[in-house]
Amino acid sequence: MNNPFNPSFGRIPEIFLNRGQLIDEVTDELENPNSPYKISIVYGTRGVGKTTFLTEVGRKIKEKDNWIVVNLAMESNLLATLIDNLYINSSSKLKKILQSIDGLSFSAFGLELSTQIKHTLSTYQGILTQMLSQLRKEGIKVLITIDEVKSTKELKNFASYYQLLNREDFPVALMMTGLPENISELQNEDVMTFLLRGKRIALSSLNLSQIEYSYQTVFNAGNYEIAPNILHKMAIMTKGYSYAFQLLGYLVWNGAKDKKVINQEIIDKIMPEYLLELDQNAYTKIFDSLSKQDKNFLYAMAQSDKNHVQIKEIREKLQRPSNFVANYRRRLLDDQVIQATSYGEVAFILPYFKDYVLKQYQFEQELE
Ligand SMILES: Nc1ncnc2c1ncn2[C@@H]1O[C@H](COP(=O)(O)OP(=O)(O)O)[C@@H](O)[C@H]1O
Ligand SMILES: [Mg+2]
Repeated sequence: MNNPFNPSFGRIPEIFLNRGQLIDEVTDELENPNSPYKISIVYGTRGVGKTTFLTEVGRKIKEKDNWIVVNLAMESNLLATLIDNLYINSSSKLKKILQSIDGLSFSAFGLELSTQIKHTLSTYQGILTQMLSQLRKEGIKVLITIDEVKSTKELKNFASYYQLLNREDFPVALMMTGLPENISELQNEDVMTFLLRGKRIALSSLNLSQIEYSYQTVFNAGNYEIAPNILHKMAIMTKGYSYAFQLLGYLVWNGAKDKKVINQEIIDKIMPEYLLELDQNAYTKIFDSLSKQDKNFLYAMAQSDKNHVQIKEIREKLQRPSNFVANYRRRLLDDQVIQATSYGEVAFILPYFKDYVLKQYQFEQELE
């Protein structure tokens, strides 16, 4: 049996843990034309599982025969790609109908525009509207997915066209994902704020009992021996962070390959690698996207000897007024770097992130 864990970003893992009924709920909601989920944004920090979630919803919707799902990549010409993929992903019956639209011709790769026609925004919009009208007549609904939206000119053009479609009640749903910092950039652009009016789907941590159970099932299936206390410990070590769940499973699987016994020794052996990969593939990027003051807040927080840190303690370390501290607290909550554990108290969300922050702090001190 090959290692079933997959700690790489953006691919549906073999071992997939459902977050309650969230995926089913969202796919059901999309059937309702007035659902607030018609436009939705899955947001969350790197590695929580946004791309996986989006792909899984897309896959489920695709199974229904009255739906076409189109995935748009941010780097592409969004409207042109939408035209091509609407055609490519249509059934052969629908392809015939689209072919019959006056003046349009398609090849296996999508639209073939004759050389006389200018490739302008309004050309694409006109073609799309015709195509979508035909599809609507046939009772076909469309789901457009866009992974990791950013504030670009392309997205702006797309947003203003999509707003038009939406106003005319076309059955075209839009599901996007975004990192917190990119989502807040969209707020600064008039046209884009339309996209932000949709439903926000925040991905919470994976359930620890589910993680424990999944490790047990998967390692048993691979004929590994693993004691309950170690299973429990491994679940805690992930803190419910999706990427950590795959990474730890992956390293332990390989680390115990020879003897097929998972014990404390194995955990100690893989620990340096586990921390290194978390840092390199997730934490460095998360931390680098924060502002200097955000970092100072985290430095102050990490120096507490408690895991649940009183805001009061952070304020005293920073020697800043309470509205200043409250502002950065809120920003970091939005970025899903920290969580409020109880009134006036915060904690780090990601596993071993505190250690990462402390290490960065030491570097900073020594380099000064
Ligand atoms: N529901 C899930 N169950 C198990 N593993 C998951 C789940 N969602 C994501 N993962 C894993 O977490 C890692 C990060 O997922 P990804 O969707 O790429 O995150 P994001 O797009 O938020 O950065 C990947 O290794 C993926 O396999
Ligand atoms: Mg992603």
